[in-house]
Amino acid sequence: MKIIASYSIKGGVGKTAASVNLAYASAKAGNETLLVDLDPQGASSFYFRIGASKKENRGYFFSKKNRLLKQIRGSNYKRLDILPANLSFRNFDIMLNSMSKSKKRLKDILSSLEDEYDLIILDCPPNINLLSENVFNAADMVLVPVIPTTLSERTYEQLLKFFKNNGYKRKIIHPFFSMAQSKNKLHHQTITDMEKRHPEFMKSIIGFSNEIERMGIHREPVLAYAAKKSYVQSYRTLFNEIVKFLGKNK
Ligand SMILES: Nc1ncnc2c1ncn2[C@@H]1O[C@H](COP(=O)(O)OP(=O)(O)OP(=O)(O)O)[C@@H](O)[C@H]1O
Ligand SMILES: [Mg+2]
Repeated sequence: MKIIASYSIKGGVGKTAASVNLAYASAKAGNETLLVDLDPQGASSFYFRIGASKKENRGYFFSKKNRLLKQIRGSNYKRLDILPANLSFRNFDIMLNSMSKSKKRLKDILSSLEDEYDLIILDCPPNINLLSENVFNAADMVLVPVIPTTLSERTYEQLLKFFKNNGYKRKIIHPFFSMAQSKNKLHHQTITDMEKRHPEFMKSIIGFSNEIERMGIHREPVLAYAAKKSYVQSYRTLFNEIVKFLGKNK
């Protein structure tokens, strides 16, 4: 079993869009897949038409496998399950703070799903806090969408610094360009510059597309309703790149 986190310190960069489509691509490729919606906004649960439980299930998340399993829902797609967000997720940091081994709780509970899933995808909220550190400890790969602008570059470098200063392995970070506009000169220049400075960037680039933006209306992965469009295919290419990387690190 492998764990991928779709993560960025920045909000609105395409973490959820990537999580939803990569989870779909993974299930389609034959993997038992679980998408965990860690963001109390519940956007990836929404895209899969799954409502969040109204009950606030304090504590179940990081301790009891059986209680966690009860929260998992099937989706409309074969081999794809969703662990929907819950409002109590806004208190993750408070919960974690009161626990022993507070930075490894997510890793421990997810490891217990080894027999059930081949791949777990974590859709993370934008932040850098105790929950993020749990994500860094749990993930085999931290996938970071970067919109090719100067400010995003700065935030990406802050993340690299945080990894270095806190002893996390930098090699698990895999950025990719998100919402790139081919006709935008600044985007173009930033991509060229950042690829030079950061050879760890994935080759696949997710372009800006109105079709992707319309996912909220369709409420399904764009790969499910517009699979043949070339700009949507880039999620599949990205998934294939991820598989290659994970294969190398078995
Ligand atoms: N490639 C794209 N082209 C056009 N619009 C996109 C693309 N990717 C995402 N979007 C749109 O941009 C908005 C933000 O995307 P998304 O929700 O995936 O970002 P996020 O990083 O998960 O945000 P948050 O930090 O709020 O969780 C959404 O309205 C989404 O539909
Ligand atoms: Mg999101």
